[in-house]
Amino acid sequence: MRTKIVAGNWKMNKLPSEAAALIEGIRKATNEGDCGVEVVVCVPFVDIPAAAAALKGSKIGLGAQNMHWKANGAYTGEISAGMLKDLGVQYVILGHSERRQYFAETDETVNLKLKAALEAGLTPIVCVGETLQEREEGKMQDVIVNQVTKDLAGCQEDFEKIVIAYEPVWAIGTGKTATSTQAQEVHALIRATLAKMNPAKAEKVRIQYGGSMKPNNAADLMAKPDIDGGLIGGAALEADSFAAIVAAGK
Ligand code: PGA
Repeated sequence: MRTKIVAGNWKMNKLPSEAAALIEGIRKATNEGDCGVEVVVCVPFVDIPAAAAALKGSKIGLGAQNMHWKANGAYTGEISAGMLKDLGVQYVILGHSERRQYFAETDETVNLKLKAALEAGLTPIVCVGETLQEREEGKMQDVIVNQVTKDLAGCQEDFEKIVIAYEPVWAIGTGKTATSTQAQEVHALIRATLAKMNPAKAEKVRIQYGGSMKPNNAADLMAKPDIDGGLIGGAALEADSFAAIVAAGK
């Protein structure tokens, strides 16, 4: 009943002049995104105009990787939700662990950004996940419940518009994937946490897995009852591997 959603997170890769070629390849390899799975590419800010042009006429969605929570003002270097909307952006990744780790993103700022994204009509992809140390110290459950509760506070009525990505930090870019059983356990915990916040809407939230999802493990992960797609880093930088993961979600 939940449509699977597979999103590529290009991170800080691909020049504006390189974006169209990759998108062209993804269009071909995914049948224009008309494949029973919601397909999204989240590109660097400066690639957005080229990506929007290259996506015209396809069903593939366009996403950004961050935004500021204010609508406008003296915030040098920042980008607002309205600016993204104006360029045709439909999705935005919020609270990615790299932003939490390197750019001082907190649950509080993720929550402000989430509210601003919903207000602007963007579909937010909110990332949560524990570090290796937290997992080894037995704190995974507390960390996840805490992040979900704080990041989504006050947004209970809009749950069906929100996508969550569970990305164990130790699995990102490391080639080390959570097993499908490990991932399902956390996805179920996330859904149980959402159910405490809004029992009527928790089943509607799509929860992606992210962290070294590849063509060879994607089907196994997405076969689990609470894994509703993937947020793909490395494997999203090549059309064929990205399309193979999309196909695994069918
Ligand atoms: P990865 O990145 O697929 O390269 O592990 C996933 C992500 O960080 O979203």
